[in-house]
Amino acid sequence: MNSAEIIVAVTGASGSVIASELLRALEADSRVARVHFVQSEHSRRVMADELGLNRQAHIIEDMLGAPPAKITVHDNANIGASIASGSYRTDAMIVLPCSMGTLASIANGLADSLLTRAADVCLKERRPLLLCVRETPFNRIHLRNMTLAAEAGATIFPLMPAFYNKPTDTLTMVRHFINRVLAHIGLPQPDAYVWNPGE
Ligand SMILES: Cc1cc2nc3c(=O)[nH]c(=O)nc-3n(C[C@H](O)[C@H](O)[C@H](O)COP(=O)(O)O)c2cc1C
Repeated sequence: MNSAEIIVAVTGASGSVIASELLRALEADSRVARVHFVQSEHSRRVMADELGLNRQAHIIEDMLGAPPAKITVHDNANIGASIASGSYRTDAMIVLPCSMGTLASIANGLADSLLTRAADVCLKERRPLLLCVRETPFNRIHLRNMTLAAEAGATIFPLMPAFYNKPTDTLTMVRHFINRVLAHIGLPQPDAYVWNPGE
C-alpha cells in the first residue's frame, strides 16, 4: 500500500495509550500519506485521565509530543467533512479503542456523528473497518452488536494482549497489538513479531 489515507477514530473506551502508539506508527510510516483523526466527545475525558493530559484543545500534540505532520483532525460534529462521503477515497478505518456505545451506533447504522458516518461509509463502500472493541465481560447486547457489525463487513479486532511473543513490558504488548492491526490493513511493520516455530 502506498500513499495510504487511513482514518483513526478514538472513542471513550479504555486504551488511550494504544491509540497514541497507533498514531505514532502511522506518522512514521512512509507508505501513509494522510491520517484522518476523529474522536468522540467522551474519549477526551478518558484520554485525559489515562494519559495525564490537561490541554484538551491540543490533544494530538500532547499525545505525540510534537505537532503532527500527516494528521488532519476532524471535528466529530462536522458531518460535512471529506470522510463523510464515499466519493472521498480512504483505504481503511480503525476505531481504537471502540466503546460498546460506538459499536452499537455503527452496528445499527446510526451515522449521527462524523465518526459513525465515516464508519457507515466504509461499510457501504466495502472498505476495511476495524473495530478494536474493549469491554469485559460482554453482555448479550454487545455480542449481538459485534455480530451485526461483522455481518455488515466490519472486522471485530478486540483489544487483547498476546503472550506468545513473551512481552516483558507494556509497550512491547502495545506494539505487538498495533503491528497486528497494521498488518491487517496492508501495512506490515518491520519490527513485527512473527510466530515461526521453525518446523
Ligand atoms: C476511564 C473510563 C474508561 C472507560 N472504559 C470503557 C471501556 O473500556 N469500554 C466501554 O465500552 N466503555 C468504557 N467507558 C464508558 C464510555 O466512555 C461511555 O460508555 C461513553 O458513553 C462512550 O461514548 P463514545 O462511544 O461516544 O465515546 C469508560 C469510561 C471511562 C470514564
